[in-house]
Amino acid sequence: STSTQGDIESIADNIKNGHISRIVVLTGAGISTSAGIPDFRSPTTGLYDKLAPLKLPYPEAIFHISYFSHSPEPFYAIARARHPGNLKPTISHAFLALLAKKGLLHYLFTQNIDGLEEDAGIPTDKVLWAHGNWKSQHCWKCKTEYPDDLMKRAIHNGEVPYCLKAECGGAIKPNVVFFGQSLPKEFDEKEKVVGQGDLMLVMGTSLKVAPCSTLPRLANKGVPRLLINMEKAGDFGNRKEDVCMLGPCDDGVRRLADLLGWRDELETLWKD
Ligand code: OAD
Repeated sequence: STSTQGDIESIADNIKNGHISRIVVLTGAGISTSAGIPDFRSPTTGLYDKLAPLKLPYPEAIFHISYFSHSPEPFYAIARARHPGNLKPTISHAFLALLAKKGLLHYLFTQNIDGLEEDAGIPTDKVLWAHGNWKSQHCWKCKTEYPDDLMKRAIHNGEVPYCLKAECGGAIKPNVVFFGQSLPKEFDEKEKVVGQGDLMLVMGTSLKVAPCSTLPRLANKGVPRLLINMEKAGDFGNRKEDVCMLGPCDDGVRRLADLLGWRDELETLWKD
């Protein structure tokens, strides 16, 4: 069940009466766990607790560019399980699509690379995929592009694809952001939209990875910040305007939709 501290009712009231109309959202792996993609850091169920057989120096090495450059095998051993195959967006994704439909979604920063935002119908011009995507790939070393069909086969077979330039021999890396790499160049420019928001909504992230983890702090003082997550995260709770709904985010968005009078609309949008 979802426990609520602070005042979710007044946030809902302010959305209904128009005082809140520019919602800035930050999402992470927790909004996709109910679609079947485990998160990273949850004890037992998260990816980082399951990597012992791969004998990594530390769990995040699997996504570190310097480790990948000499040992790409562990990444391809887990790539198939992380790669979205016909997954259905969660009702949390549908809630964000509903916010957009109602003209309330100012901007969404997602750390996820599953692409479920687009599948849920969130307009792509409102979304920054801060950690990249699986739509293209290139040689980590010489940057030569690599064909989609060969990439799909490599992921499916759990084999490392290598650069087609024989003299290069670098491993192919999807255009997802690894540790040690820069975020998309739009990130710096989009950061300022956080200060334009009149509600900061954070869902399904442990707020342990910079720079996305710093975004909630860019919300203006006095602007409510709502965390819908299994656990407390980042500096939530430090501001008097913070509200934490601790529990599954699918329960949290249903509760919020109930308060807003949008529940039927949300369920219908999700089912379609
Ligand atoms: P984490 O695994 O670090 O955090 C997921 C958060 O979601 C945790 O706080 C969970 O408690 C919470 N959670 C899990 N399931 C939930 C549910 N059903 N409802 C509500 N909360 C839930 O994932 P991220 O914060 O997204 O980057 O991780 C950030 C980045 O670290 C990832 O993008 C990835 C990773 O390493 C790279 O690899 C570069």
